[in-house]
Amino acid sequence: MILKKIELRNFRNYVRQSSEFSERVNIFSGANAQGKTNLLEAIYLLALGKSFRAGHDRELVRHDCQAFSVQGMLTGDVFPVQPSTITINSDGSRKKIFLNGTPLRKQTDLVGMAKVVLFAPEDLQIVKSAPSFRRQFLDIGLAQCSSIYRDDLYRYTAVLTQRNRFLKDQIGKRVDRNELAAWNDQLIKYANRVAAGRYHGLAILAPIASRYHAMVSNQREELHVSYKSALNPASKSSLEPAAETYGHALAAKLHELEYAELARGLTLAGPHRDDLMLTIPDQGELRVYASQGQSRTAALALKMALVELIKEMTGDYPLLLLDDVLSEFDNERKSALLETVMGITQTFITTTDPERFSDNPDCKMFRVEGGAIQE
Ligand SMILES: Nc1ncnc2c1ncn2[C@@H]1O[C@H](COP(=O)(O)OP(=O)(O)OP(=O)(O)O)[C@@H](O)[C@H]1O
Ligand SMILES: [Mg+2]
Repeated sequence: MILKKIELRNFRNYVRQSSEFSERVNIFSGANAQGKTNLLEAIYLLALGKSFRAGHDRELVRHDCQAFSVQGMLTGDVFPVQPSTITINSDGSRKKIFLNGTPLRKQTDLVGMAKVVLFAPEDLQIVKSAPSFRRQFLDIGLAQCSSIYRDDLYRYTAVLTQRNRFLKDQIGKRVDRNELAAWNDQLIKYANRVAAGRYHGLAILAPIASRYHAMVSNQREELHVSYKSALNPASKSSLEPAAETYGHALAAKLHELEYAELARGLTLAGPHRDDLMLTIPDQGELRVYASQGQSRTAALALKMALVELIKEMTGDYPLLLLDDVLSEFDNERKSALLETVMGITQTFITTTDPERFSDNPDCKMFRVEGGAIQE
């Protein structure tokens, strides 16, 4: 899949911008606060329908304007015509998404068309921060790989919200057993599917992440990635296909936790509580022990593995967005990083230091200044 062209209207600090991209590597250079990350944000929006950093779409509308529009022209097997356009218009509260001028039936249908993997400095949090960052990493990747996973995750989240509301509503009352059993059935049904999707994806992702990690760390360290769940006893191989087992274990756990859940009005087990475990043998869990450099290397290995996972599961490489990540690596890792990523897929790199790319024939150079992009 290739993003050939983008058009922005009143998006962030862009008034009106139209740019055509190289199929290989696109470098956006410029001083701070000129609009480099804003451009990557627009590309990400075309793929996932939301920003990776704005809490609300309102922030995306240019100051003193009513609405923004982002339009991408793309080619690739998933599109009905070549090239196809994806258009996202929003007044900051309501969003409309169009494929070739026709509104999408469900907005979530956007996910999986244009696919992206973003690597930004904030992604170090995947290694060191709360489990939600690692779940989100996996979920955003898998939702782009499979519309079945995407829809199951969406339904699981909806059932979870409703079940929590039910539990809260029962506090201090005589519990409605029939309704509780009905919510449990729903929860288990979708939990099973989500867990199966994660185990399946992780079985493909883990060895690729190890390979990238060895490459970027010059074979010095070996990364192990596994699924961590209170429902999956540590004694078992954590990559074994666990579909049915997961559901049975969750049913038993819900039974065990019933009083606690009814006291707190909260669902206390299931995929929304699971985690990824990242370890380096002899050093232990990266979440606890990783240095800054190790966090960067592991986060990069995971992101590059996601690129390959998407290719493996869909036949299509995602767009790779690298936001200002080069400055974060030492020279040795920087070269390893560039060698590893260049030329795999269409890539968009922002940097304040374009010199290292300027004589590379695979790179198309752009200057970003005050919300304008020049070739
Ligand atoms: N809704 C908006 N309307 C107008 N300008 C905005 C809006 N949102 C952000 N900006 C402006 O966009 C600029 C930031 O752009 P961006 O984050 O893309 O910078 P950058 O080029 O990536 O810089 P850095 O190198 O520091 O990361 C800021 O000047 C900010 O004020
Ligand atoms: Mg930036």
